[in-house]
Amino acid sequence: MKIKIDQISKWFGKNQVLRNVSMEIESSLVICGPSGSGKSTLARCINGLEKVQAGTIYVGETEVTSPKTNIPQLRQKVGMVFQAYNLFPHMKVIDNLMLAPTKVLRRSREEAYETAMSLLEKVGIPDKANVYPDQISGGQKQRAAIARALAMKPEVIIFDEPTSALDPEMIQEVLEVMKGLVKDGITMIVITHEMGFAREVAANIAFMDNGELIEMAPPEQFFNRPASPRIKDFLQKVLL
Ligand SMILES: Nc1ncnc2c1ncn2[C@@H]1O[C@H](COP(=O)(O)OP(=O)(O)OP(=O)(O)O)[C@@H](O)[C@H]1O
Ligand SMILES: [Mg+2]
Repeated sequence: MKIKIDQISKWFGKNQVLRNVSMEIESSLVICGPSGSGKSTLARCINGLEKVQAGTIYVGETEVTSPKTNIPQLRQKVGMVFQAYNLFPHMKVIDNLMLAPTKVLRRSREEAYETAMSLLEKVGIPDKANVYPDQISGGQKQRAAIARALAMKPEVIIFDEPTSALDPEMIQEVLEVMKGLVKDGITMIVITHEMGFAREVAANIAFMDNGELIEMAPPEQFFNRPASPRIKDFLQKVLL
């Protein structure tokens, strides 16, 4: 699914946090940049959690920025995974995965169960189906959160710093699951400072600073010939 962002601007009160951002996303995009540069806000605008004051965003044929668009319906196509998993703590892992498919998509419990189990298989934790989130590790929770997002069969999935709350030894297992998704052909947007992952997996890397898209380029160009000295500075910091 193609995403087309055309000259969007957004303000929170008087604070302009996105400045005339345009980009097209087709396969996998990594977004990086300093804290407060607008990365999360951009992601939230793409799935309609935030409104822009100027410009347009299309996800496939759907104009996210049109007041006529059914945003809850859009969000079924655009999954989102956050830093801190957000699993429902009072529900077993399997029930976390079955909730939206049965309630929102009205799938039968049998069908939702089959899908949920195959997704837990895919993310490598089928044995954790019947435990509660507080009984599994951070990496396993995040893999369960990814499986839960996939249970809605989204065409786009957005990750906002999916590994930044994890212990180092768990980061890799989550990144591996994400790599697999790109191979399956889902459109993926990942806000991360995991530059090894970006180099290996991203079709393009975008650098944001102060609400502006400074550069968007394939990894080879982004790392070896960045357009702006701000990117060089940033890379030096995160690659330390
Ligand atoms: N709900 C909100 N209300 C007001 N201002 C907000 C809100 N959300 C974000 N902002 C402001 O918008 C700017 C961009 O924030 P955003 O969260 O998009 O940055 P970010 O690049 O994701 O940063 P980080 O790397 O720290 O997550 C910041 O100045 C922030 O204070
Ligand atoms: Mg953020």
